[in-house]
Amino acid sequence: MKIYSNSVCVQSKVPTIAFGTTGRYHKCPNGDEFGTNSWFFRDDMDWKRLARFEKQHFYNKNRVNIIQFASSDGSEAYTQIIALLENLPLKNAEKFFPIKAYDIDEEIVNAANSGKINTCLADRMNLQIHSDDYTKYFTETLEQLNIRDDIKLQNSKTLKVSNILRNRVHFERADMYNILAGMNDNSDTILMCRNVLGYFENDRVEQFVKIVANKLKTGSLFIIGEHDTKNSFIDKYLKENNFMQVFKHIYQKL
Ligand SMILES: C[S@@+](CC[C@H](N)C(=O)[O-])C[C@H]1O[C@@H](n2cnc3c(N)ncnc32)[C@H](O)[C@@H]1O
Repeated sequence: MKIYSNSVCVQSKVPTIAFGTTGRYHKCPNGDEFGTNSWFFRDDMDWKRLARFEKQHFYNKNRVNIIQFASSDGSEAYTQIIALLENLPLKNAEKFFPIKAYDIDEEIVNAANSGKINTCLADRMNLQIHSDDYTKYFTETLEQLNIRDDIKLQNSKTLKVSNILRNRVHFERADMYNILAGMNDNSDTILMCRNVLGYFENDRVEQFVKIVANKLKTGSLFIIGEHDTKNSFIDKYLKENNFMQVFKHIYQKL
């Protein structure tokens, strides 16, 4: 069953249909405009397959750095943590935490750091599908999470995030360009940059891919989303810059 919001892709001025449970429009000083919509187990990714691949691919590493750009309200970080905890033995999962999650939008980062998250029915159904018992991760609360300029969905329900999740991610407000500039990789990075580059013009996407290609060493992963592949030539730029597609939206640096 699908629940749709009436969110709009601001840059292309084309109305899009999205699941987003919470989100706002953000205008950067440089003129970029974004929706911050995100949701649990966004279905442009096979999360179970990703978790198993992460385990096998980094089997000889003691520690793996998951860095998330465009982390929004935390839906994506929580999805990645749950996918790892549900599909890997705990001893294999722990080396991936804590995830470092960055977003440029102060309001949405404050929401992520609040320990609460707004959900729609599709979010809660996805949690049930992808975890044995999702009450380990989230509990219902009567407290509300108010996000300025939020695109409200009818029947949005606020959940409280458990420490199992909160202790495994750090949310911080930052521009991904600045984090990227200071990043040091040791072939042990999973860089998630999903559903943000698709808002850029192609020349900026290509320039961004080149910076990522210079930073990531052999074996590290770069993960994008459906919005990026649909709205830019990112797949072509990645292949031209020494990335190999492992499976849908997952690229490995050669
Ligand atoms: C559509 S959301 C994507 C959320 C999530 N990654 C997903 O795929 O569901 C795009 C997010 O990118 C963030 N963003 C835009 N420019 C950014 C930048 N330069 N650095 C970090 N985050 C940025 C926006 O604030 C917004 O929350």
